[in-house]
Amino acid sequence: MEASKLRINGARLRASLEEMAKIGATPAGGVQRLALSDEDRRARDLFVKWLKEIDLEVTVDEMGSIFGRRRGRSNDLPPVMSGSHVDSQPRGGRFDGILGVMGTLEVLRTLHENKVETERPLVIVDWTNEEGSRFAPAMVASGVWAGALDRDWVYARTDKDGKKQGEELARIGYKGSVPARKWPTYAYYEFHIEQGPMLERQKITIGAPKGILCLHWYDVYLEGEANQVGPTPMEGRHDALCAAAEMILAVNTLPDRMKGNMVATVGEIQNYPNSRNIIPDKVHFTVDIRSWDDAHALEAWEKLKRDFQQVASRRGTPIRIEETWRVAHAPFNEKLVQRVLDTADELGYSRLHMVSGAGHDASYMNQVCPTAMIFVPSIGGRSHVEVERTTWEDCEAGANVLLHCLLKTANEK
Ligand code: GLV
Ligand code: MN
Ligand code: MN
Repeated sequence: MEASKLRINGARLRASLEEMAKIGATPAGGVQRLALSDEDRRARDLFVKWLKEIDLEVTVDEMGSIFGRRRGRSNDLPPVMSGSHVDSQPRGGRFDGILGVMGTLEVLRTLHENKVETERPLVIVDWTNEEGSRFAPAMVASGVWAGALDRDWVYARTDKDGKKQGEELARIGYKGSVPARKWPTYAYYEFHIEQGPMLERQKITIGAPKGILCLHWYDVYLEGEANQVGPTPMEGRHDALCAAAEMILAVNTLPDRMKGNMVATVGEIQNYPNSRNIIPDKVHFTVDIRSWDDAHALEAWEKLKRDFQQVASRRGTPIRIEETWRVAHAPFNEKLVQRVLDTADELGYSRLHMVSGAGHDASYMNQVCPTAMIFVPSIGGRSHVEVERTTWEDCEAGANVLLHCLLKTANEK
């Protein structure tokens, strides 16, 4: 068949997604497949089985990332890579991450059954721990692979129960021996749900982000003084949770106070001892700041830090801050982004040039090689929740755009 007429098999893509959605399925229709959990291991085992069925050469690196290589005509040319992640948020959705992995698999199955050769090799990838919700930060495997994060620092990161990331990787059997170090890569594509409302609002099928916002993560630890809530007068208390409450509102109003062009969120908090009749003496919470403008985000952080320090000293709750993670905003390769737009046009899908507010491994890959993403609409703009959905038609459309982007790029000499 003429290559331009090739299309992926939408029913098979749907079946793969449905099969994966059983692993870690939650009662409300989502999935919980936290990085390096038993569910993550089961999804990886199934993924590896599927890679072997189409004769891919499978390797696992020391960060646990799984690569499947399909030979090209010229195997000494740098390959084209495509993939995403199989891990999920706690009580997360059944499309975030896994769509890009199953979408790429579907493209490779289509090439396999049609015996289509490409000039360059193609590599499918599942990156370990993209979400960063069990072990912070996020995107660690692509970060180490790209040379932006230190492997041993990542191994030593712990979850809420004190388990080390490196040990959990070994426990599930995915601490591979191949160095997690970048190799020459010609281009990287990542197919993903939008996770926001823009495509749906404008009734558009394909999004081509010009890049990804910067991501800045902080961890804040407050110390108060615990006491019996009844006999202790209100004046003179050192209530760590009240200090945190003021700080959380300072985060929420930060984008407005900085005149926009950013979002800022506190998504996680632990309060100790967490008893209704003890004044809290220990709080940990997280801060997430994102903007297209790295300097603006840093300026905002400096302002917020001053706000935090004022609250802490007024309330007598000493503060410790960890500047956990920063990734600069990632402007994608314009030629590849244009290729996504043009391919959508050729296949008859409406398309939009946009920005990604969500973080992706494509951020780190963009530091290594020309990178672009393909977005499809999220119903109701909802993501990182159990009701996260995308229509099967849109999944199929996005995978067809991926197919033809990969064919064009992998046939460049
Ligand atoms: C990744 O899921 C993010 O936090 O955007
Ligand atoms: Mn994702
Ligand atoms: Mn996510």
